[in-house]
Amino acid sequence: MKLPDLPRFEHQPKKYTGPSADEVLRLRKEFLNPGIFLYYKKPLMLVKGKMQYVWDENGRRYLDALGGIVTISVGHCHPQVVEVAHRQNETLQHSTTIYLHPNIAEYARALAAKMPGDLKVCYFVNSGSEANDLALLMARAHTGNYDVIALRNAYHGGNAVTMGLTAHRTWKFNVPHSFGVHHTVAADPYRGPWGRDDPDAGKNYAADVKNVLDFATSGQVAAFIAESIQGVGGCVVFPENYLKHAYEHVRSAGGLCIADEVQAGFGRTGSHYWGFETQGVVPDIVTMAKGIGNGCPLAAVVTTPKIAATLAQRIHFNTFGGNPVVCAQGKAVLEIIDREKLQQNSQKIGDRILAGLNKLKDKHNIIGDVRGKGLLLGIELVKDRQSKEPAREECARVIEECKEMGLLLGKGGLWGQTIRFSPPMGVHEQDADFLLEVLDAALANL
Ligand SMILES: Cc1ncc(COP(=O)(O)O)c(C=O)c1O
Repeated sequence: MKLPDLPRFEHQPKKYTGPSADEVLRLRKEFLNPGIFLYYKKPLMLVKGKMQYVWDENGRRYLDALGGIVTISVGHCHPQVVEVAHRQNETLQHSTTIYLHPNIAEYARALAAKMPGDLKVCYFVNSGSEANDLALLMARAHTGNYDVIALRNAYHGGNAVTMGLTAHRTWKFNVPHSFGVHHTVAADPYRGPWGRDDPDAGKNYAADVKNVLDFATSGQVAAFIAESIQGVGGCVVFPENYLKHAYEHVRSAGGLCIADEVQAGFGRTGSHYWGFETQGVVPDIVTMAKGIGNGCPLAAVVTTPKIAATLAQRIHFNTFGGNPVVCAQGKAVLEIIDREKLQQNSQKIGDRILAGLNKLKDKHNIIGDVRGKGLLLGIELVKDRQSKEPAREECARVIEECKEMGLLLGKGGLWGQTIRFSPPMGVHEQDADFLLEVLDAALANL
């Protein structure tokens, strides 16, 4: 069988002259944290990226349909991002918030302009975990309550506080954590009791938030936190109105509503700039990371002036938060998304991939579910459509084969049974078609 051809691309990277992949693997085994994991049997080393493509050390090109784990929003080494970072690096690399700097102020104004309602006070930190940690502190300090409701199947980070919010055994160490955190059922219309054909599904899943409030807490909580689409959990899209009903329950218990937009934000869902908008809600606190900086250590928490005022009771300091270089990059990302109409492109190309995935579902019984919005998509593989037994090994094999054919994909779900698609938002139609052809061939080979 003829293998699908990668779409033509004019960029030719310089020849790589660094250490071999074998040598890097050896160094990594000897000197790096043994908990980090590799995706492929024969580990892939990436040494160059340009827009939606990456290259290995031998000059082989791949379509990065995982987008550096949903982090490359506007494209690898996008020229404007590279240019502003280079210019700022040459001028002043670091200052901190004890001095004035225009980048942090101008960037905060630009980011706040993207937010609905009264959400206009920005805090800058370095990672999604830090952003969620700060959001929780904010909610607890503001409400005077301690308990928090999160969802099963959630991923909110790996530091001490956010590991407690995360609800997958995969990422939770066997140490005391999660104190004050209660996990409500995941609003998962594929695996949960109410499916997509049930108009009351959103309301029914949200009823468990009320149950948790009544049976597991004092009836007063600090916050409810949810990803707008569960990413690591396998691209789980909540039924319509789920967040609306959940927010009502939480607010009537004195809690604040936190939207984790680390994966779903910045236009990736296509129809909306923010994932929470697809559910018709306005949160009290929004956390952002990954795509916000297109690959630099930038993350943010945005909230209302009233909530922010509580946090002014003490000093808030973060050495690298709002660094001039990352703020320049963050501002460039916002400009590029608008100028290049990347939200609209996410919708257009996302729809094309989604339609193709649905066709593949008709052809391959192993695909149990196709879901997602814009360029945040997933397919769940099952051994049997009735029992929904997760097809974990098959999923790993498909991902491995796709890599051999030049396509990089992601994995999600508790059992690693979901294939995830989240390419840079400027990806083209030819890339979508290539992705579908490669996936079809890999599924046929099972
Ligand atoms: C939804 C969500 N929130 C938070 C995080 C944590 O972000 P970080 O790895 O930058 O700490 C992640 C990371 O994958 C995420 O997907």
